[in-house]
Amino acid sequence: MLIIFHRATLSRFCELLTSSLSSRACIVATVNRMMSTGCQDHDQKVVSKDEVIRFIQDCMCKAGTTLEDAYAVGHHLMTADYRGHFSHGMNRMQMYVKDIENRITDPAARPQIVTDFQAIALVDGKNALGQVVGKYCMELAVEKAKKFGIGMVAARGSNHFGICGYYTMMAMEQGLIGFNCTNTSPLMAPTRSVKAGLGTNPLSLGMSTGDGDEFLLDMATTAVALGKIELAIRKGEDIPEGWALGSDGEVTRDAEEAFNASLLMPLGGSECNSGYKGYGLGLMVEVLCGILTGSQFGPNIRAWKTNDRVANLGQCFMAINPEAFACGSKERLSTLLKQLRDLPVAGEEPVLIAGDPERSHMRKVDGEGGITYHPNQLKASEEFAKHMGVRPMKLVPKSV
Ligand SMILES: NC(=O)c1ccc[n+]([C@@H]2O[C@H](COP(=O)([O-])OP(=O)(O)OC[C@H]3O[C@@H](n4cnc5c(N)ncnc54)[C@H](O)[C@@H]3O)[C@@H](O)[C@H]2O)c1
Repeated sequence: MLIIFHRATLSRFCELLTSSLSSRACIVATVNRMMSTGCQDHDQKVVSKDEVIRFIQDCMCKAGTTLEDAYAVGHHLMTADYRGHFSHGMNRMQMYVKDIENRITDPAARPQIVTDFQAIALVDGKNALGQVVGKYCMELAVEKAKKFGIGMVAARGSNHFGICGYYTMMAMEQGLIGFNCTNTSPLMAPTRSVKAGLGTNPLSLGMSTGDGDEFLLDMATTAVALGKIELAIRKGEDIPEGWALGSDGEVTRDAEEAFNASLLMPLGGSECNSGYKGYGLGLMVEVLCGILTGSQFGPNIRAWKTNDRVANLGQCFMAINPEAFACGSKERLSTLLKQLRDLPVAGEEPVLIAGDPERSHMRKVDGEGGITYHPNQLKASEEFAKHMGVRPMKLVPKSV
């Protein structure tokens, strides 16, 4: 019971913290939000990236995965934390282990190709861990893109696969454009509805310039995550209009009412603010994930944080070779990103490119010699190490 309490507390806490101070218009606010997931300055300890992977790998192996799959999960979750997305990092491991313990996810399963037609393949994830399915599919998409110019692989029978950006980067590292998306448990009320019909359905697309710059968009298609509403409750604040509906189906500014109803509004908010575009993007993700693959879809996916049945999520992965199109696309992207960064600004903060806040966070982690976790997460990880019978994570002093 104690462990269960800590898991819930940790999960909620990390969601609250990772969601704090978000402002899409300001890098300071965005990076602060990322930083706020970590300890306050009174705790000068960090965990090296390798140690985070080692710890997650040990736990996943104990839960029954192969060493290779445990590494895949460990590397993925560490990367999410490294990039500042703590809500999708190490704190998710306990959810994955719980799903394995409850026989809801199969730790030994291998994804299988169902149909393979040149640049396209349909994969059955066989209820393996989402990161195992995701890595398999993007590797296949990259292989196809190198052969055919484009590779598109869609999977059913998958599970929560973490941050979309991870798979996008796999393609970018090979000089390709990466794209991927996933359907998720219903939490978003489509424009004009009063009931959740789609999930937060995130998507990601990225391309590198080849000279060190990149565009890496990685975003949910809802206005905010549920965690941002929890944070407002903690702070005793109202939420802005456009984030969520109350249980009466009306837009609410009452954080507690919004949290209890769990009806997120699509990206954009209400209809007059073009929320239907976010709804459209969420539905676009569902077409590529659930509709194409035969996985669960929309409101038929199991409710968030329930594990009464397998998730059977759908996911879609694409890799595109820019060299298959007009010459010089990387140079043009480099020019465009510079032009955007150099635009006159309204205030003090510079124009950003998607992916910049994450790169700032990674620079901070590198400068400090490791990832700074919130004390509550460290405490919960220590408890979890005992529960799993593995060596706890080693903390080292933060580099100055
Ligand atoms: N697997 C799942 O079920 C699931 C569900 C939802 C979200 N996620 C993941 O959660 C993570 C967070 O999603 P989110 O929607 O909260 O992200 P976010 O709102 O923090 O960022 C969205 C995107 O906007 C960019 N950005 C931020 N500030 C910017 C600015 N000022 N100018 C230009 N670009 C800017 C970021 O670099 C990012 O690409 C993502 O990695 C996503 O894949 C996963």
